[in-house]
Amino acid sequence: MKQLTEAGVLEALRAVKDPDLHRDIVALNFVKDLAIRGNDVSFTIELTTPACPVRDELKDASVQAIRAALPGVGEVAVAMTSKVTQHDHAQRGSVLPGVKNTIAVASGKGGVGKSTVAVNLAVALGRDGAKVGLVDLDMYGPSIPLMMGVTGRPGMSGNKLLPIEKWGVRVMSIGFLVDPMQAVVWRGPMVSGAVKQFMSDVEWGELDYLVMDLPPGTGDIQLTLVQTIPLTGAVVVTTPQDISLADALKAWKMFEKVNVPVLGVVENMSYYLCAQCGHREEIFDTGGGRRTAGELGVPFLGEIPLYTAIRVSGDKGTPIAADDAAPAQADIVRKIARNVAAQVSIRNAARAAAPAVDIQLM
Ligand SMILES: Nc1ncnc2c1ncn2[C@@H]1O[C@H](COP(=O)(O)OP(=O)(O)O)[C@@H](O)[C@H]1O
Ligand SMILES: [Mg+2]
Repeated sequence: MKQLTEAGVLEALRAVKDPDLHRDIVALNFVKDLAIRGNDVSFTIELTTPACPVRDELKDASVQAIRAALPGVGEVAVAMTSKVTQHDHAQRGSVLPGVKNTIAVASGKGGVGKSTVAVNLAVALGRDGAKVGLVDLDMYGPSIPLMMGVTGRPGMSGNKLLPIEKWGVRVMSIGFLVDPMQAVVWRGPMVSGAVKQFMSDVEWGELDYLVMDLPPGTGDIQLTLVQTIPLTGAVVVTTPQDISLADALKAWKMFEKVNVPVLGVVENMSYYLCAQCGHREEIFDTGGGRRTAGELGVPFLGEIPLYTAIRVSGDKGTPIAADDAAPAQADIVRKIARNVAAQVSIRNAARAAAPAVDIQLM
C-alpha cells in the first residue's frame, strides 16, 4: 500500500457530498483534526447543525470513501461534531447579540397548531444538542407557558429578564409579563416598539436557534413584527384544507415582501391517527401542504397527524418531542426539526457564498 498522507485522505473524502449543501465535505471545510498514525486515520466532521438529518449517512459514507480509495488503510475513526452557522443580519447584533439564528413560526390564521409546532421545534432542536431559545410573541393568545409547563415570573439579572429553562429550552413569553386580556388592544406601532424592547431586554446568552411563535395572521401587526425582528427565516404552518392553504399563501407573501426567506411549510393535522387501532383517516384530503410548498417553490418540511396525545401533551406541559411515552410522534416532530435546521444551514451557506449584495450596497 502507498504511504497514507493527509492529502490522500482529503482527496478520498472529496467523494462525500453533503446532500443539502450540494458540495463535498472537504470543500465545505467540515473535516477537522485529521491525524494519521501508521495505517490508521482519525478525523472529525464538523457539521453546521447538531440536528443534521444526514449525520449518520455522512459518517458512514466517509469511512466507505476512505476504504474504497485507500485499500489497506487500518482503523478509520470518525468523530461527529457541529458548529451552527450564523445568519449575519445587520440588525441582529444590536437586537439579539449571541443569537446565531432566529426562526419565526407563522400561520395565516389561528388554531392550526402554530404554537404546537414552535414548542416541538424548539424542544427537538434542543434534544439534538443545539442551544435553543423559545419566545412567545403571540400577544393575542400566549400559550407557550402552558404548553411548556412553565409557570412563574422570569428573574432579573441587572436590568435584563432571564428566560426560564424547561425541556432544555430557554423560554420567554409575553404571557409572563402582560395580562393576556389587556394585550388585545395593542396596535401595530406599539407592538413593534414593545417587541423590540422585549427582545433586547432578555438575557438570552449564546443561542444557536431562537424560535419565535408569532401572532396568527398576516395583518399590520405581523408585518411590523417581521420587519422589527431580524429573522433568518420563517416556518409556515398550515392544515390541509383549501381555505387554510390560501392563508399559508398570504403568510408566504408577507415574508416575501420583507425579504425573509420561508424555510418551508409544515402541514399539521394532516390526517387523523386513531390511538386505539392505528387507523389513518384522511379527514381533510392530505397532501395539500406538500402541493402548496411545491407551488411556492419552498421545501415541504413534513406532516404531523391529528393525534390526541399531541393535544394532551400540550395541555399538560410536556411537549410531544420530550414525551418518551409517544416515541413515534416524537420522531415525526424531530424529523421536521432536522429539516428546518438543514434549511437554516442551506440559507447560511448560500449567503456566505454570495456576500456581494451587502457589499455592493455600501
Ligand atoms: N397535530 C395535532 N393533534 C392534536 N391536537 C393538536 C395538533 N396540533 C395542535 N393541536 C391542538 O390544537 C389546539 C390549537 O393548537 P395551537 O398550537 O395552540 O394552535 P395555534 O397556535 O395555531 O393557535 C391546541 O389545543 C393543540 O394542542
Ligand atoms: Mg398559538
